[in-house]
Amino acid sequence: MKSKPWSGRFTEDTNQFVEDFTASISFDKRLYRQDIIGSIAHAIMLGEQGVITKAETNKIIKGLQGILKDIESDNFEFLTEFEDIHMNIEKRLIERIGDAGRKLHTARSRNDQVALDIRFYLRDEIQAVYDYAERLQDSLVSLAKTNIDVVMPGYTHLQRAQPVLFSHHMLAYYEMLERDKGRLEDCLKRLNVSPLGAGALAGTTFPINREAVARELGFEGVTKNSIDSVSDRDFSIEFLSASSIIMMHLSRFAEELILWSSSEFDFIELPDSFCTGSSIMPQKKNPDVPELVRGKTGRVYGDLFSLLTTMKGLPLAYNKDMQEDKEPVFDAVDTVKDCLRAFSEMLPGIRLNKERMLKAAGGGFSTATDMADYLVRKGVPFRDAHEIVGKCVRYCIEKGKDLYDLTLKEFQRFSKAFEKDIFDYITVEKSVNSRGVTGGTALKQVKKRIKEIEG
Ligand code: ARG
Repeated sequence: MKSKPWSGRFTEDTNQFVEDFTASISFDKRLYRQDIIGSIAHAIMLGEQGVITKAETNKIIKGLQGILKDIESDNFEFLTEFEDIHMNIEKRLIERIGDAGRKLHTARSRNDQVALDIRFYLRDEIQAVYDYAERLQDSLVSLAKTNIDVVMPGYTHLQRAQPVLFSHHMLAYYEMLERDKGRLEDCLKRLNVSPLGAGALAGTTFPINREAVARELGFEGVTKNSIDSVSDRDFSIEFLSASSIIMMHLSRFAEELILWSSSEFDFIELPDSFCTGSSIMPQKKNPDVPELVRGKTGRVYGDLFSLLTTMKGLPLAYNKDMQEDKEPVFDAVDTVKDCLRAFSEMLPGIRLNKERMLKAAGGGFSTATDMADYLVRKGVPFRDAHEIVGKCVRYCIEKGKDLYDLTLKEFQRFSKAFEKDIFDYITVEKSVNSRGVTGGTALKQVKKRIKEIEG
C-alpha cells in the first residue's frame, strides 16, 4: 500500500481518480512559503514549550529551510499523491530529516494550518493590491496635473449636463480608490490574527503558546474560538468583495475610456502600446486593455460568488468543500493586480483632444443651470428660473441656436431679470469656476485637493 500521512486506518489504496479529484496541490502549492514559515514558527514554539527537544526543533528548521530553497530553485517535485501543499512539504521533511520531521505536526491539524496559510498569504497580497491601487492614484494625479484646466462635458444619463474639469473627473477615481484602499485595510485588520492552535477544531491538549507563534509570524493576536478558527473564510470573502468593488470602479473607468476614444466622442487617444489592431480592418485601433479590464470584472465578481456559494450552508467546522476557497482568491489577486497595473501604466500615455472636449463641453445647453442660478441671484425663485431657462432652451432648439447666440432682447422676452451681464455667466469657463464649493469642479478647488493629496 502507498503510504499517506493518514493511511493508518485504511486497508485499500486510494482510487487513482479520487486521488486526483481530491488533490489541491496543483493550486495550493502557491502557499509553500507561508506553509513553511508557519511550520518553522510552530516548531520553534514546540521546542520552547518542551513539547519536542531543541535538537529536533533545529533539525526541523534546517530541513524546512532546505525545502524552501529547493522549491525556490525549482528543485522540488510536487506530488498529487500527497494531496496538498501541507502534506507534500511534511513528507519531504520526513525524507530529509527522518524522525524529527514526524513530530512537526504535533498539536496541529491541516485545518488550522491551512487557515493560517491563507491568512498569511492574503496579508501579503492585500498589501500588494493596496500598493498597486496607490500607484494608479499617482497616475491619476499626474494626469490631472498635466491637464489641470482642460474642460469637458460632465454627464448625467450620458447626456451632457454641466461642464467640468477633466482633472476633476480623474480625481473622482482617485477618491474611489482611496475608499478601496480603506476597505483593504479594514479587511486586513480582521484577518491578521493567528488561528494556529485550533487544531482540527477543538483546540489541542498540548501546552502550546499560541501568542508566541502569532507574534513570530507578525499577527496582531490569536483567534478566540477554535471552531470558528477553522470554519471561517469570511476574511477571504471580504477580500473578494473589496476586490469586486475595485473592479467595479475600474470597469466604469474602462467604459469611459472606451467611449471617449471612439470617433463619436474623440476626446482622448489611448497609447498605441496599449491597443491592438484588427486582422481584417486596417484602420482599426482597438481599446483592448480597458475592454479586458471591464471584462475581467465579471471574473472577480464570479470569484466572490463562487466562495460565497461554497460557504453557504456548510456546517461547522472544516469541510472538504472549503478546499475550493483558494482558486477564487488566487484568481482575484492576480486579476486585480494586473488590472490596476494596466491602468496605472496606460494613463501616462493618454493624449487629450482638448479643443474637441471644450467644444463638447459648451454644447447641449450645458450652462443652462448657470443661467437659472443667474436669475436666482437677480431675485427670481429657483423654480421660476428653471421654467424660464427651460423655455429659452426650447426656443434655441426651435431656432437651431445656442444659448450664447441669443441677443439680450431675446433673453428679455423670457424674463426682465436678464441683463447685459448674462453673457458672462453662460460661458464654459465661468460655469466651471463658479463651482467653488468644497469638492466642486472650480479650478481653485481641484488645485486645493491636489495640494491636500500631495500633502
Ligand atoms: N487541502 C486542504 C484544504 O485546502 C487542507 C485541509 C485539509 N483538512 C482535512 N481535514 N482534509 O482545505
